[in-house]
Order: sequence, then C-alpha cells, then structure tokens
Amino acid sequence: MKILCIGMMVCDTLLSPVPSNILALDSVKIGKPSVCCGGDALNAAIGLAKLGNPVSIVGRIARDANGKFILDECGKYGIDTSGVVYEEECATAASYVLIDEKGERHFLSEKSIFAKLSGSDVGDQVIKEADIVYVGSAMAMRKMDEGGIKEIFHKAHSYGKMTVMDAAANLEDPERDWLSYLAPAFMETDVFFPSMDEAIKITGERDPELIAGCFKKFPMKIFGIKMGARGCFVTDFKEKKFIPCPEGLPVVDTTGAGDSFMAGLISGLAKGMGMFSGAEFASCVAAKNVGSIGGTAGIPNYEEAFDLYQSFYK
Ligand SMILES: Nc1ncnc2c1ncn2[C@@H]1O[C@H](COP(=O)(O)OP(=O)(O)OP(=O)(O)O)[C@@H](O)[C@H]1O
Ligand SMILES: [Mg+2]
Repeated sequence: MKILCIGMMVCDTLLSPVPSNILALDSVKIGKPSVCCGGDALNAAIGLAKLGNPVSIVGRIARDANGKFILDECGKYGIDTSGVVYEEECATAASYVLIDEKGERHFLSEKSIFAKLSGSDVGDQVIKEADIVYVGSAMAMRKMDEGGIKEIFHKAHSYGKMTVMDAAANLEDPERDWLSYLAPAFMETDVFFPSMDEAIKITGERDPELIAGCFKKFPMKIFGIKMGARGCFVTDFKEKKFIPCPEGLPVVDTTGAGDSFMAGLISGLAKGMGMFSGAEFASCVAAKNVGSIGGTAGIPNYEEAFDLYQSFYK
C-alpha cells in the first residue's frame, strides 16, 4: 500500500546554547547547529517510510538551501518527491529554534508558504499511484481549508482511495465555526484523528464522546482524538474505546508525537488492522518516538513497533 502525504514541509535549525541576553550581545559561539525535518506531512512521510511503507509527498518548497535539505532527506528515506511543487515567491518553511541554557526552546519561524498550497498542487497521477491519501494540516493552510482538501479527497474517492486527515490548529487561527467551515472536507474524509485541543476548537465540546457526536453526521468511518500522555479515544460511531499509552517507556521529547501516531495508524490500517488495533499500534509507534530527541528520530521499524503492540495490548 502506497501512502501520499500532503501538507507542511519544514526545515528546522536548532541552535544551542543561546544566552538569554543574546540581543544585547554582538557575537556568541554556539554548538554545532542541528538541521532537521519538520512539518506534519514531512514528519508523517518519514515515519511511514521508517515503518516500511512506500510513500510519496506533496507540499511546497522553494529552490533554496532549506528546500534542498528537505529533498535530500526525503531521498535518504526513499520518499517519492516527484509531486513536490516549487514556490517562486516564498521561502521554504523554516524554524530557527533558539535553545537557552535551561533547555527552553524559543522559535523564530517563517511559514508564509503554507498559504500557497492548494488543491490544484496535487496532480491526478500522484493520487492514482497511492492507496491512501493523507492530509496533515486541516485548519492551518487557507487554500486547503477553503476547498483544497475537499477537492483532493473527492478526487481520491473517485479513484477508490482511502482518505485520512489530521488537524494543525494554533493559537493564532481565526475564530470561526470550524465544524461548518470544514464540513465539505469532512464529507470526503474516511479517517479523522485530531488532537484534543483541535477537536475542542472544531466542535466547542470538551468530552470525547460529545466531540465524536458532532462528526456522526459525516460519512466518516473512523474518528479519534489524540490525548497526549492520556492516550487516545477512537470510535466508528458504533463501538468506542479509550486506549492508554504503553506504560513504562521513557519520555524525552514529545515533538512530532502526533505525526508519528498518524504514521503508525496509517501503517496499521494499510496492513489490514481494524480501528482499535490500528490505534493501539499507533500508540506504540508514538510511545517509541517520544523516547528520543527530534520529531522522527525515535520512530521504530515495523517489527519493533509490532513487538511492543503484542506485548502491551495483546
Ligand atoms: N508523554 C507521552 N507518553 C506516551 N505517549 C505519548 C506521550 N505524549 C504523546 N504520546 C502519544 O502520542 C500521541 C499524540 O500526542 P498528542 O496528543 O500530544 O498529539 P499532537 O498534539 O497532535 O502532537 P503534535 O504536537 O506532535 O502535533 C498520543 O495519543 C500518545 O499516543
Ligand atoms: Mg498534531
């Protein structure tokens, strides 16, 4: 099963240690900068590749050094980038992460390119070649929210593909009735698995079952909520379950936890798992990932994740 990931592709540069009075200083020596991939589509694509799936990606990057870095990294993981779109005006999305002496992170970000991604960026061919089409960032890319996701998923459905979506809300998002606003996209979504904050923002409800009730009117097959260290909730609107995280594993860095969970879920579904097993398998992938520093560094291979799944849930 080949998976097409659509959405954010970001180059993160981590700088450390940065003194807290940096703006009053002329020049400071720091350690070796660490450059890495970020953004939900890119993180999920890397996760899916590490789990052994054939993967393609569509997003916008510029012909700049950060864009080249992203393409090189995709190449290392065997991710098909033939559908990536080159942007002429904006730079490749970038975050510069200043890590102070206490380990606290301070982000300088430039991501105006996100507003440029649109439904027409995703060609028929990449959709036809995939079995599952994943959009990582509802609520974060204007043209995608205003019809792009619907257009892509509608096309995917017309070719008989499965559609999977995550959300990517942040504090600066406009106040709006997201449930109505995204309704056309939800009508074409088979699996929607946002995090708790996003689910609350979309529905205005705080209880997982009440939240799920808001999505019942759509033809969605699986709805779930990622709940951080509390695990996740999943339902097909007939059966439902709270799934705890595997216990006793170290938690070092939760960056990319949600994206690794989605990669695990899609891998499980691609292998024929049902919604409960798929969410349990996803919880194992995420639990392993939060044990290492970096958005995708701890994502295990399929066998390792499956061993944890069998020992914890079966
Ligand atoms: N502290 C933790 N211990 C174990 N597992 C965790 C922890 N935090 C997150 N996870 C796993 O990762 C999944 C996703 O985490 P979370 O709910 O924070 O997603 P998210 O908010 O989308 O994350 P992200 O910031 O990466 O977008 C959880 O459902 C859980 O399975
Ligand atoms: Mg998330």
